Amino acid sequence: MNSTSPPNASKPPARKLHIVTHGCQMNVYDSARMADLLAPLGYTPVDSPVGADMVIMNTCHIRERAEEKVFSALGRLRVMKEQANGAMVIAVTGCVAQAEAEIILKRAPYVDLVVGPQAYHRLPELIAKAHRTRNSVIDTDFPAEQKFDFLPDAAAPQGVIANLTIQEGCDKFCSFCVVPYTRGAESSRPAAAVLAEARRMVAQGSREIVLLGQNVNAYHGEGPDGAAWSLARLLRALAEIPGLFRLRYTTSHPSDMTDELIAAHRDNPALMPFLHLPVQSGSDKILAAMNRKHKADDFRRIVARLRDIRPDMAFTSDFIIGHPGETDADFQATMALVRETRFALAYSFTYSPRPGTPAAGLPQIPAEVKNARLFELQAELRRQQDEFNAGTVGLITPVLFTGRGRHPGQLAGRSLYAQPVAVDAPVQLVGEIRQVKVTRANPNSIIGTLLSHATKETIAA
Ligand code: SAH
Ligand code: SF4
Ligand code: F3S
Repeated sequence: MNSTSPPNASKPPARKLHIVTHGCQMNVYDSARMADLLAPLGYTPVDSPVGADMVIMNTCHIRERAEEKVFSALGRLRVMKEQANGAMVIAVTGCVAQAEAEIILKRAPYVDLVVGPQAYHRLPELIAKAHRTRNSVIDTDFPAEQKFDFLPDAAAPQGVIANLTIQEGCDKFCSFCVVPYTRGAESSRPAAAVLAEARRMVAQGSREIVLLGQNVNAYHGEGPDGAAWSLARLLRALAEIPGLFRLRYTTSHPSDMTDELIAAHRDNPALMPFLHLPVQSGSDKILAAMNRKHKADDFRRIVARLRDIRPDMAFTSDFIIGHPGETDADFQATMALVRETRFALAYSFTYSPRPGTPAAGLPQIPAEVKNARLFELQAELRRQQDEFNAGTVGLITPVLFTGRGRHPGQLAGRSLYAQPVAVDAPVQLVGEIRQVKVTRANPNSIIGTLLSHATKETIAA
């Protein structure tokens, strides 16, 4: 204990907590909740594992490479733990923890805790148990209680842009995907809990909230009136919170893009004209093999309808290349869909067989074929991203300032399309929206100048 601090029996000793987060935004959100949960036990977040009392590796199982990262990182932590004479608690959380608890302890027996995503609220008791028994502890239950009822709401301010998980798990069972196994069945948080957390975020300075869920547009949380609320209904209530300027949601499934949600992009002024809508493939045969439950034309129709009601709408997506059964013709159907749609940005991956998922047992496409197709797709996507960014040059567009920029006198901000924007502007504008003229587009960001006459707050669009 620090010798300058007065002895105080009720105050827990100061401890250092280092959290490494892999995977999706839901893991980022969960890591922050775990830090909040451990704060009353004396744990303060630190940037380095060196000298930390506890290290949490919050892991992702979505592709093989994500999983391999976990084991190489654990190898490095082992050395640090040895150098600290064992005085470092190592916890593995997240989707690898859920899927491979036993394997983790076999390959890395120096790990103290393996905790699945639905059991984070039990972390304090699990840490105590590991200390007490001096044994590794596993908790990969899907407890009946909802973890969000027990986790503290976002306590530490997240900044001008905040993530808020409203839905977890997935019942869709796409052929390639581990999420239904690692995150369990779909469940939505009650609307009142989401609204209360959003209000707290806004009181702490957040101006844009990104609603998160593996299938966020399947949200059907209980409303204050007892009826299930749709995502569109929830977005309506959120848009009424004073000081909350912008709303986004991710990740959506094409089958859950209801008419009501599409209309919300016209009627809800806080909703950004930007949608991440993973389509995975442009071939109906592969979409069926993937168990995606929609056709390529369904995706086309959703995009067309949204562009019709909001001409400035932009889209991003995810693609899997080389799913079992994918022929050259199937791949060309994907390329055709991409060329037609014109994405602002998209993420693409070669298919990675995941243990326990249906497609993993099918005959596989050779790696060279998958890689060559991915190369072709990514070249097209890169071209579209550059074209999209270049298309913003000359535009006058509202930018939400999020903090200081890289250079003195500069602020960082976000465009309607979540592009990072750098603008020379006074620091007082952090948390506010101003009109900016875009002067240059870089590969992953844009540069603009503040329009001096635009001193009045411009909300959203
Ligand atoms: N719920 C979202 C996706 C979550 S996973 C949806 O339904 O679209 C994020 C992305 O990872 C997926 O969209 C998919 O493109 C990719 N992915 C998932 N499993 C994969 C696998 N086995 N191999 C390669 N990419 C995968
Ligand atoms: Fe995975 Fe499909 Fe569920 Fe998305 S919808 S999380 S890809 S199973
Ligand atoms: Fe990865 Fe789990 Fe998210 S597998 S993508 S961390 S839900």
